[in-house]
Amino acid sequence: MAVDYSPASHYDRVTQAWQYLLGDELHYGVFDRGDEDLAEATGNLTRRMIDGAGLERGLTVLDVGCGTGAPACDLAERYGVEVVGITTSPVGVETATRRAAERGLSDRVRFELRDGTANGLPDESFDRVWVLESSHLMREREALVAECARVLRPGGRMVLCDVMRMREIPFQEVRRRTAEFAALRAAFGSARMDTMAQYVDLATANGLVVDMTEDLTAATLKTFEHWLGNAERYRDEATAALGAESLAEFEEGSRILDALWREGTLGYGIFSAAKPEGA
Ligand SMILES: C[S@@+](CC[C@H](N)C(=O)[O-])C[C@H]1O[C@@H](n2cnc3c(N)ncnc32)[C@H](O)[C@@H]1O
Repeated sequence: MAVDYSPASHYDRVTQAWQYLLGDELHYGVFDRGDEDLAEATGNLTRRMIDGAGLERGLTVLDVGCGTGAPACDLAERYGVEVVGITTSPVGVETATRRAAERGLSDRVRFELRDGTANGLPDESFDRVWVLESSHLMREREALVAECARVLRPGGRMVLCDVMRMREIPFQEVRRRTAEFAALRAAFGSARMDTMAQYVDLATANGLVVDMTEDLTAATLKTFEHWLGNAERYRDEATAALGAESLAEFEEGSRILDALWREGTLGYGIFSAAKPEGA
């Protein structure tokens, strides 16, 4: 039977196992010193997003691609914001809803099954839109950014970080490297990588003003050795949750990403953009 690499199926399949491999926060780490453990490093990335978002008590936040709900719960607990987290993965909604209830946050944090490219939420209904490493999974990138801009209140802010393409990849090269890209799709789901310039153009076309960008490629490089270390450390648990074949795909995908980072093909970036008052 053909494997379904759509993000919804992919995240239903991997969410449990990835908590061993990636941690509660399902995203890359930022290694500012270099000797952080993975949990501290993923926290560093979340903190970069918090700085970019300019969070204040009482603000409403839309978390597009909420994962296991860990970042949304942290934001509500530490910054007193209200969060609606959305994802296309039913397992993600279940896991995140359970987490919010366990942490006594159900009155301020809720999770819903919605697609970031057509979220169905009212216009101008959030103060902040938070897109932490989910945009690469939304091939309809134009629709994602348009939806983020639409639901933001004037004076609000969108903040996004993700894997980005650092150079053009000529068609001939894509053909030559089909096996590598197929291995990445098997390990991480179907994805589309854009450059920071493409993200900035899209945000601008939707009336947002990008006032912060940062290249985190070098700072995120160590993520892969930590993922591979966790695959060793939690081999039994991850195999039970994911199967030996998928775990091997995850390890191969991590090695390929490490090489793509080092050769300057893929990398990581963050930006923050304001929706002007009166927009
Ligand atoms: C790499 S995880 C990041 C999770 C979370 N933001 C974090 O940092 O811990 C990507 C998330 O995007 C979600 N996702 C993928 N496609 C989506 C879509 N079209 N709409 C909403 N969420 C989506 C996945 O289900 C998953 O929760």
